[in-house]
Amino acid sequence: MNTQANTPQTTRKPKILVARAIFPEALAKLEESFEVRSNQSDQVLSPQELQKALSEVEGALVAGSERIDAAALSQAKSLKVVSNISVGYNNFDVPAMTVAGVMATNTPDVLTDTTADFGFALLMATARRITESEHWVRAGKWGQWSIVNNPLGMDLHHSTIGIIGMGRIGQGIAKRALGFGMKVIYHNRSRLSPEDEKACGAAYVAKEELLRTADHIVLVLPYTAQNHHTIGAQEIALMKPTATLINIARGGIVDDAALAQALQAGKIFAAGLDVFEGEPAVHPELLKCSNIVIAPHIASATEKTRRAMVDLAIENLRAALDGKKPPSLINAEVFKAD
Ligand code: DGY
Repeated sequence: MNTQANTPQTTRKPKILVARAIFPEALAKLEESFEVRSNQSDQVLSPQELQKALSEVEGALVAGSERIDAAALSQAKSLKVVSNISVGYNNFDVPAMTVAGVMATNTPDVLTDTTADFGFALLMATARRITESEHWVRAGKWGQWSIVNNPLGMDLHHSTIGIIGMGRIGQGIAKRALGFGMKVIYHNRSRLSPEDEKACGAAYVAKEELLRTADHIVLVLPYTAQNHHTIGAQEIALMKPTATLINIARGGIVDDAALAQALQAGKIFAAGLDVFEGEPAVHPELLKCSNIVIAPHIASATEKTRRAMVDLAIENLRAALDGKKPPSLINAEVFKAD
């Protein structure tokens, strides 16, 4: 008798961690191929919980709330991949992941237009004081309307926009600005090709010139140790008193305490912030400013884009666990083809 033929084939499902809540259909699909430990309660795991969870799995889907460093990886002997549901990956200590032989992946491209749209929305809301205006109406002040007593804003059209960080999202914002007849200047670690500059109608300038001449400054650069406090008191002092500052990059790019002081002292006109040092906490002095628009890190938050980000993160994870090169692998040196 051939007993083997009658024995059901049990293929071992690799264990994975899903560290934050994801769309239920995506989770159900993952459960078909993996033994999933998921955190649908969405309570951010403590560093100890994360370290333990990583020690039990071969792959993990995480977001910016999970810091993946040497301590988190110290017990993770079977871990092959950590897939970030985010394009920014300052929550990854990439050298530590590489030393541990863990592939690091992110979700570029799928959120470029959505994030550029949001950057522009935040700029418009800030320059035209939309949040303050709403508060004004809700406070019953509409009856005080007068030619000079409305929340008066700053124009976007035919003004100068200065973009610091001219990657895909920065270029998306530049292209939107052209539709408003804005003059586009930018500063970036490396200059764009002449073709890309032409497509964005953008002129490269030194950072100091950008700070001095732009009417609206938008920050879209990645967070790195070198970029810490790219905008602090000194830089703000160079800006026009009528300028607006928009940060959709990362907390820590702006010195939030210095910005709060500048806003309170009227050194610049207004700020629009989607990201904060130490978020989800917001500097208490920023919360006291009226000339500010605050959002809870939502630049990529449309349903379509968040689904696309989750799908790409899953594609990265699956590829890594199938022995294939993930489409958005950050530390390519870790990948070894089977
Ligand atoms: C990103 O993907 O980096 C955005 O900031 C959303 O987290």
